[in-house]
Amino acid sequence: MLKIEHLSKSFGGVAAMSDVSLDFPAGSLTAVIGPNGAGKTTFFNLITGALKPDKGNILLEGENIAGLSTPDIVRRGIGRAFQIASIFPSLTVRESMLAAVNAHRGQHAGLGGRFPIAAAEDRAQAVMEMVGLSAKADMVSRYLSHGDHKLLDIALALVLEPRVLLLDEPTAGMGPEERWQRIDTVHRLWEREKMTLVFIERDMDIVFKIAQSIRVLSYGKVLAQGTPDEIRRHPAVIEAYLGTEYVAGHA
Ligand SMILES: Nc1ncnc2c1ncn2[C@@H]1O[C@H](COP(=O)(O)OP(=O)(O)OP(=O)(O)O)[C@@H](O)[C@H]1O
Ligand SMILES: [Mg+2]
Repeated sequence: MLKIEHLSKSFGGVAAMSDVSLDFPAGSLTAVIGPNGAGKTTFFNLITGALKPDKGNILLEGENIAGLSTPDIVRRGIGRAFQIASIFPSLTVRESMLAAVNAHRGQHAGLGGRFPIAAAEDRAQAVMEMVGLSAKADMVSRYLSHGDHKLLDIALALVLEPRVLLLDEPTAGMGPEERWQRIDTVHRLWEREKMTLVFIERDMDIVFKIAQSIRVLSYGKVLAQGTPDEIRRHPAVIEAYLGTEYVAGHA
């Protein structure tokens, strides 16, 4: 589905990503983990076209999308929610969703913006219900709580019907209870939309609970990949990142 080959990106002398090759099968739920500065966000930025790779291929169902613009990549079915909510502060939740759709209507964006199409409204409504924002549909975005901002960010990606959804720390800045609610919402929408979901997460309890598969980055390289059980007991991962807290059977 999404296949990364030999992806590299440097900033000045810093190799933020070097020769990363990873596979994300269709319909999978994968966590990307690793220490601060490991290159996780850079990895997403390269996939979404926010950054241009120095080298490497990004194959979406066989098509190499490396180097395309972000709108072209979004149009091909890759959606993304950011670490920091990136929304339209003066629009309501519903208007923001329609604006996101209209922004991606390509050359007709200018016209579509004033006259939202019924299908987009239906999709926006369905997505708001799916993520639990429909009660706040008419609220101006800037008055949303931090958690709801982040939810809107996910909703803005979802409304474009992505086949692949990338979430950069969907639970960042939340208390423990809200965190679990959020990840439950993410899990439900993954099941419902049957998409390929990749999320960056630093809460390892969440990662081990919901990820089917884990990719570990460190210093811009793939340190390990495998199932939660394999990663939990992987010596290099324990040494570089986890410590012994999560080793199976460890008291
Ligand atoms: N636009 C940029 N310009 C210069 N350096 C950058 C840029 N983006 C990332 N870097 C550098 O690349 C490296 C990887 O950063 P990145 O943000 O991808 O890490 P991360 O794994 O997401 O970290 P965190 O867990 O803190 O979010 C870091 O050394 C960072 O300083
Ligand atoms: Mg990051």
